[in-house]
Amino acid sequence: NWTMENFIDTEIERIRKLVGPTGEVIGAVSGGVDSTVAAKLLNTAIGERFHAIYVDNGVMRLNETKQVHDTLTAGLGINLKIVDASEVFLGKLKGVTDPEKKRKIIGNTFIEVFEEESAKLDAASGGNIEYLLQGTLYPDVIESISFKGPSQTIKTHHNVGGLLENMKLKLIEPLRELFKDEVRALGTLMGIPEELVWRHPFPGPGIAIRILGEVTPSQVEIARKADYIFIEEIRKAGLYNKISQAFACLLPVKSVGVMGDQRTYEQVIALRAIETVDFMTADWYIFEASFLKTVSRRIVNEVAGVARVVYDITSKPPATVEWE
Ligand code: XMP
Repeated sequence: NWTMENFIDTEIERIRKLVGPTGEVIGAVSGGVDSTVAAKLLNTAIGERFHAIYVDNGVMRLNETKQVHDTLTAGLGINLKIVDASEVFLGKLKGVTDPEKKRKIIGNTFIEVFEEESAKLDAASGGNIEYLLQGTLYPDVIESISFKGPSQTIKTHHNVGGLLENMKLKLIEPLRELFKDEVRALGTLMGIPEELVWRHPFPGPGIAIRILGEVTPSQVEIARKADYIFIEEIRKAGLYNKISQAFACLLPVKSVGVMGDQRTYEQVIALRAIETVDFMTADWYIFEASFLKTVSRRIVNEVAGVARVVYDITSKPPATVEWE
């Protein structure tokens, strides 16, 4: 009979047989639940012969890289390599304001950095790396065979599919028969922290698509701080698991304000929080007014460069979840 415990055992056996006694595997991890669960399965099956690579693209959230490092390395014992490529990504994003261009630059740069790092790991392992791990879920499999969701045709989605084109690696997809809720259950069984198991989705292009206009280091800092405060307040209010996804967007528009007796002229933060079942359609979340007041006051007081906070009250459709 099919149980999650049986699934783990069977899958680990299958991976061991497939990879053999000396083969090695690489895989990209993002800090999200799918890639972490997939990485933990590989780590359980073949230990140090699985190499996780995390690429810091400079547009992750505040403290995120350190958190991923601590959770995966100390917490889960995964053999992890962190590649700080923030300068490369931010250099290529300089002067770029078009959303699709941002997405393509980030996707392509990710592939370049990942290939370079995996070549280094392969050389270090004596050419033993034969497999690439992907955290593909059943809905992704179905979608790529028969059905393209609206977001797929409207925006270039960043994923690791492009990785296989140049690399001579075979694919391991241990989650390809599972739905999201099953991946979460599996993660819990494998000792992955609840906070990570229930984390909101985060797009591949990171906060670059939540910073409208040019992505510069100072804009990244503003967007990061505002987002951090919003999510912190959501957690404090016990709302995190009631909301499907929440984040702050930085709008490159200046507006006049007053702080103390000083006139200010600074940018706008837009807050987005949605409820959805499948992310194909979504409704904006209804907060208590007092909650929004707290968040707005904190962001304007604590984040230099922001003079005004607005709340996005557009459903999907006609808007998308992300602003770009
Ligand atoms: P949209 O904005 O298309 O977002 O309504 C729907 C869901 O997809 C996420 N999203 C992405 N996820 N790579 C990802 O892995 C991407 O390029 C990407 N773009 C959007 C978005 O955060 C939301 O959960």
